[in-house]
Amino acid sequence: MNEEIIKDIREKFRKRFKEEPTLFRSPGRVNIIGEHTDYNNGFVLPAAIDKAVYIGIAKRQDDNILLYSEEFYEEHTCTLATVERTEKVWPNYILGVVDQLLKRGYKIGGFNLNIEGDVPIGSGLSSSAAVECATAFALNEIFELGIEKMELAFIGQKAEHEFARVMCGIMDQFASVFGKKDHVIRLDCQSMEYEYEPLKLDGYKILLLNTNVKHSLASTEYNTRRQQCESGVDLVKAHHPEVNTLRDVTLQMLDQYVADINPLVYKRCKYVVEENERLLAACEDLKKGDIQAMGEKMYRSHDGLSKEYEVSCKELDFLVAAVRNNPDVLGARMMVGGFGGCTIIIVKEGAIKELIDKLSIAYKNEMNLDLTPYIAETDDGSSRIV
Ligand code: GLA
Repeated sequence: MNEEIIKDIREKFRKRFKEEPTLFRSPGRVNIIGEHTDYNNGFVLPAAIDKAVYIGIAKRQDDNILLYSEEFYEEHTCTLATVERTEKVWPNYILGVVDQLLKRGYKIGGFNLNIEGDVPIGSGLSSSAAVECATAFALNEIFELGIEKMELAFIGQKAEHEFARVMCGIMDQFASVFGKKDHVIRLDCQSMEYEYEPLKLDGYKILLLNTNVKHSLASTEYNTRRQQCESGVDLVKAHHPEVNTLRDVTLQMLDQYVADINPLVYKRCKYVVEENERLLAACEDLKKGDIQAMGEKMYRSHDGLSKEYEVSCKELDFLVAAVRNNPDVLGARMMVGGFGGCTIIIVKEGAIKELIDKLSIAYKNEMNLDLTPYIAETDDGSSRIV
């Protein structure tokens, strides 16, 4: 927990709204392996991390909603009857959740809310899902709505679709709500069944290197990839009506029904089918404590994302290539959506400083950009702060 932010947000809430807030937090996430699989009904292996969004909140007697971002020094106000998408970006993640609650018939009143956090924005660590989940979790508690955790995650995802207009899968919101310290979560995005897997890294750490780029392609290409996967499913479905998503598709079906007709769609689908297999094998590695084997699969995941799914970029590829033959590094790959954001690297604890120093110089020389490193510790999901 970031005690500094907790203190700050509490004091600022008291000053602004002249009352005592209840505080909540919801974390960002990493994903060890299983990328672009969630919206294809596949598997993901995320963990919540020790970087979170914090909110202070209190019920009002009327229907007004008063929001204040301590990060952007900006306020936003509306009423329960006038909740709508705004041109300002940050309120949408909060209002999108309010909108979902109202649409689902939950009874809430007005409220005062302030927000602050230490999930770096735009780095692929899911600050947006953290805001959505913190809001959903808090409103559920203060208005005693009795919503189950899984529905809170779906509410967050729907808010992202409708107010942020990003057609994301369920991974980010799920991880933010369900995270557990020292564990990764294997989630089956078809059945929504999940299993906590202890993350025993024995002297290794999760290092994130933020490329500090976010290519504008990101959201359009994300939606294009979704469509390409659906096209692949349609081609197979013509021969196998029981197939509904890539989860039901085998490599053999792709070879038979997609390869010759649409080589591009074939490449995309092949990556997804193989990534699911890799993830399941990586879970076995983790169970056996063979993190070396897991790391190797992370490199192969990167290769698939870069060459077949084509969602990487030169900055991400550079960083992965730069650690590939380093004996202190077990595995590395680009993480989440792609076209920028972070690489995730499993590195020996004692070698981190030297690696960061070396890579920062190399990255600056090659890309003329700074590198921002974070060491990610796993953490618990959404909670009330007492
Ligand atoms: C983004 C989305 C997730 C997931 C990843 C790719 O983070 O929000 O739902 O699709 O990209 O794995």
